[in-house]
Amino acid sequence: MERVGTGIPGYDELLGGGFFKGSVNVVIGGTGTGKTVFGGEFIHEGAKHGKKGMVVLTSEETEYIRREWYTSFGWDFWKLEEEGDVTFVDIADPDLRLQKTVEIAPDELIKSFKKLLENKIKTVNPDLIFIDSLEALFLAIDSKYRLKSMVDDVFNVLREAAATCIVATGVIYGVDEIIAYSADSITNIGMVRVGNNIQRSIHVAKHRGSAIVNQVRVLQLSDNGIDVLSQSPYLEF
Ligand SMILES: Nc1ncnc2c1ncn2[C@@H]1O[C@H](COP(=O)(O)OP(=O)(O)OP(=O)(O)O)[C@@H](O)[C@H]1O
Ligand SMILES: [Mg+2]
Repeated sequence: MERVGTGIPGYDELLGGGFFKGSVNVVIGGTGTGKTVFGGEFIHEGAKHGKKGMVVLTSEETEYIRREWYTSFGWDFWKLEEEGDVTFVDIADPDLRLQKTVEIAPDELIKSFKKLLENKIKTVNPDLIFIDSLEALFLAIDSKYRLKSMVDDVFNVLREAAATCIVATGVIYGVDEIIAYSADSITNIGMVRVGNNIQRSIHVAKHRGSAIVNQVRVLQLSDNGIDVLSQSPYLEF
């Protein structure tokens, strides 16, 4: 099976050599841990290497994220979009026409989301997809069984595409655990307190069909974006 490099320094090693082509990979972390940056770097690096990217935003508008990525890291997604290297899909998309509100039944929202994904994948035909994020869509599904089968439905749409995907998921009421079950790989990112310092941590919790590095490492955020360092956040150094 063909591997796809993520472009995130130090991360491919943790995965045992990158993602498998066409796989659905979940990145789980609490708020502010770096999920959105993670997916942005994956798409930005891919574009640098001629890979077509698609970014799907379920909670924010495109312009907001583009601005955030520009002020944080200088990534120019306006240019990438203009040149046809990256396509954005957000909640204001006319095909979805579903501003996320409490008035829309959650089943309907997920069904429309699935259809939107299918349509966009067909027209854009991306190599890489980043979905930011899934937990909010599934939060209102009461039955765990239904939640699991709906997640499987959405993941099947992604697997039918030739694209390699990162799906970000926040940590909320166990929804993240159910989303993780269906994924081909799981990466956990978090914040760790070491003395007076807070550091970000990263580890790969599963990767179907691959060996992984069973270590917690430091995830560093800087003006250059993300670096996965070779050291553990738990050691004093
Ligand atoms: N140039 C930079 N150097 C260091 N850290 C940065 C830089 N730019 C942004 N950050 C940090 O990155 C963090 C943003 O992470 P991100 O938005 O990816 O988190 P998230 O897990 O997606 O959170 P949310 O739950 O809000 O979606 C912010 O806390 C911000 O301080
Ligand atoms: Mg985010």
